[in-house]
Amino acid sequence: MKKTLKNVVCLLALVAITAPSFAAIGSSAHDFSGASWNTTDQDICGVCHTPHGGAAVTGAPLWGHDQIAGTGYSMYVGTDMDWGTAPTAPDGTSLLCLSCHDGTLPLDTGGAATLMGAVNAAAVVGPDLTGSHPVSFVYDTSAAADGEIKTADATINSYLDGGAGGKVQCSSCHDVHNTAAVAGLLRVANTNSDLCLTCHDK
Ligand code: HEC
Ligand code: HEC
Ligand code: HEC
Ligand code: HEC
Repeated sequence: MKKTLKNVVCLLALVAITAPSFAAIGSSAHDFSGASWNTTDQDICGVCHTPHGGAAVTGAPLWGHDQIAGTGYSMYVGTDMDWGTAPTAPDGTSLLCLSCHDGTLPLDTGGAATLMGAVNAAAVVGPDLTGSHPVSFVYDTSAAADGEIKTADATINSYLDGGAGGKVQCSSCHDVHNTAAVAGLLRVANTNSDLCLTCHDK
């Protein structure tokens, strides 16, 4: 009896450990395993990563999707931006997002020619980034002289591309793998603007 109970507890613990992995990327907006445009990679990871012949991209191992050059973009200008060096083009992991989201490269590398606009027009971001939150610049409290952003702590550093001293990118707000299982593939739910207030002092 005691043993059975122990087994049940173990089973429940196992379910508790394995369940979140189903709640993550699987069935999220980034699970393309059943997408009609996806003719070459029927698994979840294969649309973006590849086990062999992948590109060495910092932060995104075994990258298996075409990458945009990132030229010809219009970058955020802003009204009161205190940044050391204003970016003239997107870089880092934002280029990976934009390889699908700017709507100019096929979603299915090596397969169908379907572009983002045909799948979800609202999800086309760029090449005009003037109306999007700035990306591809260093999170630098000393550059933001007006004290409007917070001193980087462990949470903020974990949101930056490259960690401490790194850049704000698309992935500073979004979780490409939906690990946090928050709507909109966000890193943290933006109820009460919690996402914005992670970095902004308002
Ligand atoms: C829609 C594209 C996309 C899909 C699908 C995807 N990834 Fe990623 N992956 C990325 C991007 C972009 C990065 C760069 C880092 C970031 O933005 O978090 C990354 C980074 C990673 C990293 C290194 C950083 C980290 O988070 O540990 C690993 C490992 C990884 N992916 C594994 C996987 C696996 C395993 C799957 C399938 C279950 C998968 N990815 C599905 C786009 C994708
Ligand atoms: C990872 C940190 C981070 C997160 C999360 C974040 N921001 Fe920012 N944001 C910044 C930094 C850094 C700047 C540049 C601030 C400066 O130079 O004064 C900035 C700039 C801005 C600006 C432009 C200000 C100007 O002077 O033009 C606006 C508006 C803004 N953010 C709004 C938001 C909103 C709304 C959210 C939530 C949806 C958000 N931010 C989430 C870091 C972040
Ligand atoms: C392989 C192409 C591809 C890459 C790479 C990619 N995405 Fe997506 N993403 C998509 C597609 C396609 C959709 C729309 C899915 C739909 O509406 O059915 C989407 C949807 C989204 C959504 C909307 C989620 C929702 O719940 O509606 C967000 C946010 C997003 N992507 C952010 C990102 C970010 C940030 C990155 C990089 C870190 C990224 N994506 C990389 C193809 C991609
Ligand atoms: C400062 C935070 C922040 C940054 C940086 C950011 N986003 Fe978002 N994004 C959001 C929020 C918040 C939403 C709204 C999510 C929701 O309500 O579902 C959103 C929505 C989206 C959507 C869904 C649009 C729709 O209506 O379906 C896509 C796609 C997307 N972002 C892609 C990107 C890409 C690509 C980048 C980088 C170029 C990026 N985001 C940078 C915060 C951000």
